[in-house]
Amino acid sequence: MKAIQDEIKKIKKDLEERLSKASSEKEIDNVKIDFLGRKKGKITLLLKYIPELSPEERTRMGSLLNELKKEAEKLIEGKSEILKKEKVAQRIVDVTFPGDKPLIGKIHPITQTIQKIKDIFIGLGFEVVMGPEIETEYYNFEALNMPRFHPARDEQDSFYIDSNCLLRTQTSPVQIRVMEKSHPPIRVISPGLCYRRDAIDASHFPVFHQVEGLAVDEKITFADLKGCLTYFVREMFGKDTRLRFRPSYFPFTEPSAEVDISCIICKGSGCRVCSNKGWLEILGSGMVDPEVFKKVGYDVEKYQGFAFGMGVERICMLEYGIDDIRLFFQNDVRFLRQF
Ligand code: DAH
Repeated sequence: MKAIQDEIKKIKKDLEERLSKASSEKEIDNVKIDFLGRKKGKITLLLKYIPELSPEERTRMGSLLNELKKEAEKLIEGKSEILKKEKVAQRIVDVTFPGDKPLIGKIHPITQTIQKIKDIFIGLGFEVVMGPEIETEYYNFEALNMPRFHPARDEQDSFYIDSNCLLRTQTSPVQIRVMEKSHPPIRVISPGLCYRRDAIDASHFPVFHQVEGLAVDEKITFADLKGCLTYFVREMFGKDTRLRFRPSYFPFTEPSAEVDISCIICKGSGCRVCSNKGWLEILGSGMVDPEVFKKVGYDVEKYQGFAFGMGVERICMLEYGIDDIRLFFQNDVRFLRQF
């Protein structure tokens, strides 16, 4: 009897020792087999003695051994739980596990082009100003020497909000807003959205960006306009780019010129992008018409100025060889990711 009690104590001690050393599910399974295994488990073997004992001893020992069995099961189960929890905790802090790559956004190609244009003009001493996208007819047309019924208005089919307000068709009205508020010398550029009721195709979209430029001072000449735009074009498209000033017409400049650059793809020899002409039109420009100065109350004898306006989508398309303006507005990440 005493011997069995001692054996119970020893088994308990052994079991605790074995469990404390076990560090895997496999080791715990082995402990379970060694103590509770059906054939040779230490506790199972003791239980097999019971029928051989006297009836009184049988009851006492029976309950002691059953208690031992239950306790052993509980200890083994407990250790197994601890191991599982440790495994989960290890997974959470596993610093060697490869991390999830966050998706990093990119700056839209149009915004990148505007940024590049801004940087070049800021370098020339120009200031960046913004104007409203909803304009009055006065600023969008009238003050720019395009009175009601002027045929030049027809080219800019517009979105009217009421009979007096419209979504601006060009960034040129910012010229007027700047001159009304300040005095020469003025050197500003103004990037922003414009809207026209154009049918959508590969080169037209009803929403697009322009960058306007205006310089007003005493003794400004056409040479300043040429020098400024030549510098801009060379910075923007490369040092060997050539320019061509073609006489043109805009109601708010006199004289006016459209600026072409030598094709950046074929360098002027003729290709698909330049329709075999060797030249690409990139902007409109001219000397500010005295009629415009009169509208803002400037002394036309004292001040001269030059202005220019360029389409950002077109410049961006030329720079990257993009052949469809619609791509800029579809927000397809497969397109946007490339810039
Ligand atoms: N606003 C003109 C357009 O949208 C572009 C332009 C031409 C702007 C000549 C100018 C300029 O400032 O001088 O067609």
